[in-house]
Amino acid sequence: MALLNDLEWRYATKKYDPTKKVSQEDVDKIVEAARLAPTSSGMQQFRVFVISNQKIKDQLVPISNGQQIVAEASHVLVFAAWNKYTEERIDSIFNLTTKERGLPADRFIDYTNRLKAVYLKQSPEENFVHTARQAYIGFGLSIAQAAELKIDATPMEGFNNQQLDELLDLNSKGLKSVLMLPIGYRDETGDWLLPMKKVRNPKEDFAIEI
Ligand SMILES: Cc1cc2nc3c(=O)[nH]c(=O)nc-3n(C[C@H](O)[C@H](O)[C@H](O)COP(=O)(O)O)c2cc1C
Repeated sequence: MALLNDLEWRYATKKYDPTKKVSQEDVDKIVEAARLAPTSSGMQQFRVFVISNQKIKDQLVPISNGQQIVAEASHVLVFAAWNKYTEERIDSIFNLTTKERGLPADRFIDYTNRLKAVYLKQSPEENFVHTARQAYIGFGLSIAQAAELKIDATPMEGFNNQQLDELLDLNSKGLKSVLMLPIGYRDETGDWLLPMKKVRNPKEDFAIEI
């Protein structure tokens, strides 16, 4: 039940109190939730950038359709996914896994060959559809972890991805932005959404029993 209470508590915060900062310990926990997320074949196809620098947060406003949330929040997490699969990227986690588990180096060779046969044949655009989906899994868990810590968070897709990629020089890292997650503490009096009821489709419409 605790998780459900946290999910009831959270809302897509529209206005933050810019004077309240999230502690490094709590930022680390929110990022850790994303790091622990399950991903397809365990490849962790995304990375999280943690922005606390006010100048950079201010630069996020014009590329986020003027949403002030990104400047007023304590931190902005940017979830960025691999722009494409490569052999090295596919091998990387399996090399780490064999090493950390003390397995023979070729333990996953058949499996990685199968992955390569699928992903390296696709276009970078097709690859990115898949890698970006993995970012959403970590994103969801970070939102839940923030809620558990009673830290507000705003899931955000409303920004210009290309401009954000340029600002953070993501291309040189082989990454493309997927989502932003401003985190911080709500402005208790200034946020129009805070007093509003959370609205969801009724359970009977949502879960279809077969
Ligand atoms: C992927 C995604 C993108 C979103 N993008 C934005 C955004 O750019 N700006 C914003 O204010 N809210 C954004 N939202 C918030 C949603 O509008 C909000 O989560 C939804 O209306 C449900 O309300 P709640 O989160 O308060 O329960 C986004 C949510 C998700 C999950």
